[in-house]
Amino acid sequence: MTAKLIDGNLVAALVRDQIRNDVRDWVGQGNRPPFLQVVQVGNDPASSTYIRAKTRACEDVGIETATAHLPDTVSALELKQQIQGFNESDAVDGILVQLPLPDHLSQHDVIESIDYRKDVDGFHPMNVGRLAVDQPTFRSCTPAGILELFRHYSIPTKSKHAVVVGASNIVGSPMAIILSRENASGKATTTICHKYTRDITRHTIDADILIVAAGQPGLIKAEMVKEGVVVIDVGINRIADETSEKGYRLVGDCDFEGLKEKASWITPVPGGVGPMTVAMLMKNTLLAAKHSIYPR
Ligand code: GUN
Repeated sequence: MTAKLIDGNLVAALVRDQIRNDVRDWVGQGNRPPFLQVVQVGNDPASSTYIRAKTRACEDVGIETATAHLPDTVSALELKQQIQGFNESDAVDGILVQLPLPDHLSQHDVIESIDYRKDVDGFHPMNVGRLAVDQPTFRSCTPAGILELFRHYSIPTKSKHAVVVGASNIVGSPMAIILSRENASGKATTTICHKYTRDITRHTIDADILIVAAGQPGLIKAEMVKEGVVVIDVGINRIADETSEKGYRLVGDCDFEGLKEKASWITPVPGGVGPMTVAMLMKNTLLAAKHSIYPR
C-alpha cells in the first residue's frame, strides 16, 4: 500500500478562510476585531519561530495581536502581574504564554494564572477538565487540528483502535482524551504509550490510527505498524544539515519513507500537523472573542 498524503497546509488554509469570513462578519456586526495577547519569556529561537507563525496567521485572518517580551530572568510574581493585567483588560480576548518557560518558573502556576475564559491554548486545568467530561471547552490546538484533519479527509475514528505515543499536557494527553470521548467526536478505543511503556511495538502494531508526539526522530519504523494504519506525526525535530541554508532541517518522529509504503494515510513533516495547530489557535481566539464557550 502507498499512503495518501494528509495535506495540513491545504486544510489549514481552508480553516483560515472560514475564520477570515467569520471575523469579517463579527466586525461587520459592530464588534472590535478579536485580540490575541502573546507572552514570550526569554528568546528561545524555536519559540520565536512559532510566535512569528502565529502572528502572521492572525494578520492573515484579521485577528489583532501583540507580543509582550519579558526577559528570561523575570520573576514569577512579575510574570503573573502581567498576565493579571491581560486577564482584566476588556481589550484582550485570548492569552497565550509560549512554552517552554525558563526552569525557575512553574509552568502549572503560570498557566493557572491565566483566566480560563481567555485560555486559547486550552491548557488551563478548567479547560482540560471540561474536555475530560465532554463539556464545551477550549481544546488544545494540536489535537483539535488533528481531529479537523480526520474530518476533512473523512477518516473515521469511531470504534477504531487509536494509539497515542507521548503523554504531554500539550498534545498526547488531550489527544487521548478527545479520541476516547463520545461528544469530542473520537469514540475510539484509545491506548496511550509513554516513556514507561515496556514494549511500544506491542501497542503500535495493533493501531488503526497512530498519533506520535514523542519528540524523538525516527522513533516509529515501518515494522512497528500494520498495513493500512493512519499515521499522524506530530514531531518537529531540528536535525543538523549542512546542505540546508539554515543549517538544519525538520523531521518528525516517524520514518516517513518506510511508513508511507505501509500506511493508508500519513502526514508529512513539515506541512502536516504544524499548520493545523496555528489554524486552531485562530479558531479558539475567535471563540474567546465571541464568548462562545463561556457566555457572559
Ligand atoms: N510550545 C510548543 N507548543 C506550544 C503551544 O501549542 N502553545 C504554547 N503556548 N506553547 C507551545
